[in-house]
Amino acid sequence: MTIHDRISRTALLLLLVVAGCSSPTQTRPSVTEADVQFPAAWRYDARTRPVSADSGMVVSTDSLASAAGVEILRAGGNAVEAAIATSFALAVVNPEAGNVGGGGFMVARLADGTEFALDYREQAPGGATSDMYVDEQGRVTDRGVEGHLASGVPGTVAGLEAAYLRYGELPWARLLEPAIRLARDGFHVAERHHNSIRDKRELLSKFPTSAGKFLPRGEPPPIGSSFKQPYLARTLQAIADGGAAAFYEGWIADSLAAEMRRGGGLINRRDLAAYEAVWREPVRAEYRGYEVVSMPPASSGGTTLTQILNIMEGFDLQTAGWHSAEAIHLAVEAMRRAYADRNYYLGDTDFVDVPLAMLTSESYADSLRRSIDRDRASVSEEFNRVSVESENTTHVSVVDVRGNAVAVTTTLNSGFGSGVVVRGAGFLLNNEMDDFTSLVGVPNLYGLVQGEANAIAPGKRMLSAMTPTIVINPQGRTELVTGTPGGATIITTVFQIVTNHIDFGLPVQTSVNAPRFHHQHLPDVIRFEKDGLPASVVAELRSLGHEVSERTGISGNVESIYIAPDGTMFGAADPRRYSKAIGY
Ligand code: GLY
Repeated sequence: MTIHDRISRTALLLLLVVAGCSSPTQTRPSVTEADVQFPAAWRYDARTRPVSADSGMVVSTDSLASAAGVEILRAGGNAVEAAIATSFALAVVNPEAGNVGGGGFMVARLADGTEFALDYREQAPGGATSDMYVDEQGRVTDRGVEGHLASGVPGTVAGLEAAYLRYGELPWARLLEPAIRLARDGFHVAERHHNSIRDKRELLSKFPTSAGKFLPRGEPPPIGSSFKQPYLARTLQAIADGGAAAFYEGWIADSLAAEMRRGGGLINRRDLAAYEAVWREPVRAEYRGYEVVSMPPASSGGTTLTQILNIMEGFDLQTAGWHSAEAIHLAVEAMRRAYADRNYYLGDTDFVDVPLAMLTSESYADSLRRSIDRDRASVSEEFNRVSVESENTTHVSVVDVRGNAVAVTTTLNSGFGSGVVVRGAGFLLNNEMDDFTSLVGVPNLYGLVQGEANAIAPGKRMLSAMTPTIVINPQGRTELVTGTPGGATIITTVFQIVTNHIDFGLPVQTSVNAPRFHHQHLPDVIRFEKDGLPASVVAELRSLGHEVSERTGISGNVESIYIAPDGTMFGAADPRRYSKAIGY
């Protein structure tokens, strides 16, 4: 019996007792991992158990970073503080994505019901222009992708300090202790560290400071050696001593501005001094009685997730069955429509008018749903407005003993960002400028074809897909904290984690281990993870008119925490990469 049959059976049993399961409030089916079967060749097990704990849980892309967060929780810190400590530690042990030279987003729901979204996305320097990456022949150059000109003004340190100033209880410097220790005393180089540096050797060797740091004697640090980062330790110590001002105004700002001058970049002292993190109202989707709280612009994540959920709420997914061709077809049609809108309408709301209320309204979702043919794939050109696959973003989910829940997604954009390490300060700079529209209609590094709303302007934040998300159940209890890296696939991955939870009742680790699919309007193709769909489902989707293609790689790397009614926390780290859930 396949998972489809098993979950359909569960749904049928539920139908006998719950009237109208396609109504906005349905009962979440109770499914155990023993009920779930993945396709035979799928590489991950449905029966892996999550990590359980009673007092606190941190899930991040690295065990040392998760341990840093747990150290803070054990010291009496709250979930916001643990997320801050984990973020700083990721800058040390996960340098390809963790950062102080990049940016990110934090979404939280505190024990008292307070919900917030904090935007510390990078922004274009004052000297940026809309056509700065277009050459005289009208072609987009790679200067938005690598080197000094590719960087936006970093937001991470300002964002983490802003969160601390509002919600911190321990001394600020205590939150940086684990990161400073890891940078100063070094950590053991695992195969994955070695390989990720090896894979970016060409980029890193272009910049002497980067080569000096990551390619000692021209090679990645050997597996098993201790990797020490004394300049980064000094930078982190200065931030611990002087707060964000040390980064944006002190010697670190001088070093960053000098690095820019050396390499022909734009960020100057004025850009740094002017940077501020912005508190924003989270986007909230009502989905079958649950509330799904996520990130508004400058990320497209929450808005596009809400659009997909609003459209899907009108379909009975339980009866269709998990990963049935019918359920995937309907989800893909919702994704197609929501991504077309994302790429056309969305940009930094401090610069462009974005019809957020319309995009996230039920009535708009109704009209989009009515345009879906249950028996036939639509054609993306019919929704033509103007998509990404960054594998090097990173996510942290934290829950503390008091019931505070925090989701943080942060990035340098592609792996090791611009490739540039700031001389004397030891940290990498982002290449986030490529997330802007360099030229309308021309795909960026990851294939995103975006519009005017996301054009470059001084001080503007480039559109992101990062989707840190918290799910609240119909009784008002925080039930799921989640997020993932994965560029444009972030939103569809988070959608699948949410629907796996609410519609299909999948256990949290099973949901994370489950195969995933993705559609982003353009290119007009359903991509699914290798061996992730049975041949019969692929054939059915093709017969509906979809182009379907099997990816060679993986899709995302989810960090989820499920909080059970008795308060037990279940941390689910994604086996796709090297994530770690640690609880106590
Ligand atoms: N740099 C990828 C994103 O923010 O979506």
